Amino acid sequence: MTGPLVRPRRLRTTPALRRMVAETCVEARQLVLPLFVREGATEPVPVSSMPGVVQHTRSTLVKAAHEAAELGLGGVMLFGIPESKDAEGSGGIDPAGILNLAITDVVAEVGDALTVMSDLCLDEFTDHGHCGVLTPDGRVDNDRTLAAYAEMARAQAAAGVDMVGPSGMMDGQVAVIRAALDSSEHQDVGILAYSAKYASAFFGPFREAVASSLVGDRRTYQQDPANGLEGVREALLDVEQGADVVMVKPALGYLDVVRRVRDAVPVPVAAYNVSGEYAMVEAAAANGWIDREAAIVETLTSIHRAGADVILTYWAAEAAGLLA
Ligand code: PBG
Repeated sequence: MTGPLVRPRRLRTTPALRRMVAETCVEARQLVLPLFVREGATEPVPVSSMPGVVQHTRSTLVKAAHEAAELGLGGVMLFGIPESKDAEGSGGIDPAGILNLAITDVVAEVGDALTVMSDLCLDEFTDHGHCGVLTPDGRVDNDRTLAAYAEMARAQAAAGVDMVGPSGMMDGQVAVIRAALDSSEHQDVGILAYSAKYASAFFGPFREAVASSLVGDRRTYQQDPANGLEGVREALLDVEQGADVVMVKPALGYLDVVRRVRDAVPVPVAAYNVSGEYAMVEAAAANGWIDREAAIVETLTSIHRAGADVILTYWAAEAAGLLA
């Protein structure tokens, strides 16, 4: 009786052996926690489509950031929800706007213990919900939006942010933001560029989280899910324009893009495990259809294996414990 000559199962025999030969290991330092702060809130407001996620008050936001630092997370990504919105998204530029105030609050609390990042986009601040300002006939005006992003970058840098996260998918945004930062003596403020960002149905719950007023879609600026090479092109352009980190978003449906970008650029690659990806697992777990903790660890491990050096995930704080 002869058996197989080669037995890969031998390396899977015990937990210790499996651990010893594991190729991939995600660590808390590589995780970034997205956090929402709502202007005027006196209590945290739960986001119903994202169980466990809330719109913070300014003070509970600071507590959440403190906890993130204690857990050894890599950073936080801040999103603001203003009380009032307008066509130009002026609340994003106003130094007294909610996001800019929150940046200062969080940086005062955590100092260098955490990389504090902020979403740099107009959609949370515009009454029409688009990521840029509009032309008279209702199209998103790329170049006028760039001017607004430059001002927003200066405001966020003045508030003390470590890295800005331009997520609006306007052509040339990284170059304009880099120039705005450099010319206002913020050469050390970094750029985590949402480079390959797709027009995805998986952002659905996020739109509730930021009380988005968007009607229609973002297909004239976010990428077509059919395109992989275009994601590599966008990442290369952002590196050329001065991005310090490039990001692919969403993560799970785009692991091939994460890998292609990882192989193509000489900078760290991030991936955003987005709201819909979070909600799917939470909903299945709430129904008893999936092992929640195992699914979280498997999700993050898969994103890391595909090539992401940094992962933005709403599970970051809990995952720090699960991965330890
Ligand atoms: C835009 C922005 C979006 C997300 C992060 N930044 C939404 C969008 O483009 O519609 C989505 C994040 C998520 O779904 O978790 N400022």
